[in-house]
Amino acid sequence: MFPLRVPLLAVLISMALCQYYDYDYQPASMLGPSGPNCNQECDCPINFPSAMYCDNRKLKAVPFVPTGIKYLYLQNNQIDEIKAGVFDNVTDTLRWLVLDNNQITNAKVAKGTIDKLTALEKLFFSQNEITEPVIPPSKALEELKMMHNKLSKFPSGLLTDKENLTSINLQHNELTSDAIAGAFKGPKKLLSLDVSHNKLKKLPAGVPSSLEILYADYNDIDGVGTGYLNKLPSLQYLRISHNKLVDSGLPAGVFNVTSLVELDLSFNKLQSIPEINEQLEQLYLQANEINKFDLTSFCKFIGPLNYSRLKHLRLDANNITHSSMPPDSPNCLRQATDIMFE
Ligand SMILES: *[C@@H]1O[C@H](CO)[C@@H](O)[C@H](O)[C@H]1NC(C)=O
Ligand SMILES: *[C@@H]1O[C@H](CO)[C@@H](O)[C@H](O)[C@H]1NC(C)=O
Ligand SMILES: *[C@@H]1O[C@H](CO)[C@@H](O)[C@H](O)[C@H]1NC(C)=O
Ligand SMILES: *[C@@H]1O[C@H](CO)[C@@H](O)[C@H](O)[C@H]1NC(C)=O
Ligand SMILES: *[C@@H]1O[C@H](CO)[C@@H](O)[C@H](O)[C@H]1NC(C)=O
Repeated sequence: MFPLRVPLLAVLISMALCQYYDYDYQPASMLGPSGPNCNQECDCPINFPSAMYCDNRKLKAVPFVPTGIKYLYLQNNQIDEIKAGVFDNVTDTLRWLVLDNNQITNAKVAKGTIDKLTALEKLFFSQNEITEPVIPPSKALEELKMMHNKLSKFPSGLLTDKENLTSINLQHNELTSDAIAGAFKGPKKLLSLDVSHNKLKKLPAGVPSSLEILYADYNDIDGVGTGYLNKLPSLQYLRISHNKLVDSGLPAGVFNVTSLVELDLSFNKLQSIPEINEQLEQLYLQANEINKFDLTSFCKFIGPLNYSRLKHLRLDANNITHSSMPPDSPNCLRQATDIMFE
């Protein structure tokens, strides 16, 4: 049963690429004659004069940003410093600030720069060298990306007034569970949180109940607290692959919640299939140590209306084969088009 593999890989690759090349909102074809009020080191398209493109030009510092600029692109430079004053003319108008792929440390972000931006909606600060987050005072913040940095702390309370924040990306940092305790309290509209590739020992605590997507792959998580998912009634996609999950770390029914559509528990140390809800559609359990197929993990009862909605189930790289499935499996797993054992 191979059909799942190719699309899954394609999705993974395109997602990985997106993380780094998601400047598709950049109207590159508009680059041409520069607008009147532009820093001479940059380009401001004449038909989109509120955008200033300063990306890919070996800049060492953030240039002065003239009045009128709302969208500022500074990715792919050698910037290691944000000097005081550079944003003075745009403190209450700058909406997007893209600083990805530079060499900025916390010590070189001067006071009176990002801490003065009151209208910022998107802050992209990935692939730099910050050890703690740099958060603008803007209450309008919608998207925060600080992947591939050296974040080892994320103090509690920094996001409390970010009522419009919907997406936070913090993958590839050095965050521990203690370091993020209370970090995500506040943003009542948060939909997506990615804390993959960090040093977490448990799933983040105190996350808003609005969350729909939580990715925590590649951490040191060995269990999930009782009732953790009951506090997240909107959660649809949960990924905890490449961690240290063991059966004893999973309280009975901890994943049995109706909101979940996709659950990725692959590359862990589970020996049995955890109980899931009838509504779950995708379950990834490959590369664990599962040695039995217990149908009651999917269906406690089987009847005309009582069956699992599971479509894809991966059990490859476990200690189990197709012959481990009990005879009445098809009645429970009625919609499973892909069950992979190898
Ligand atoms: C910055 O703002 C000051 C005061 O409004 C103005 O005089 C100056 O021309 C502005 N500079 C630029 C480059 O926009
Ligand atoms: C949040 O978003 C809404 C809808 O776009 C907007 O009306 C509101 O002003 C925003 N809140 C803040 C604090 O910017
Ligand atoms: C999941 O929870 C529901 C509601 O409590 C229960 O009826 C069902 O049997 C549980 N499913 C499994 C597989 O444990
Ligand atoms: C079967 O499903 C129906 C509808 O979802 C539910 O009301 C009923 O309690 C279920 N029966 C058992 C034995 O779980
Ligand atoms: C795999 O399962 C077989 C049969 O149940 C058992 O004898 C063997 O020890 C298991 N191997 C591992 C690595 O768990």
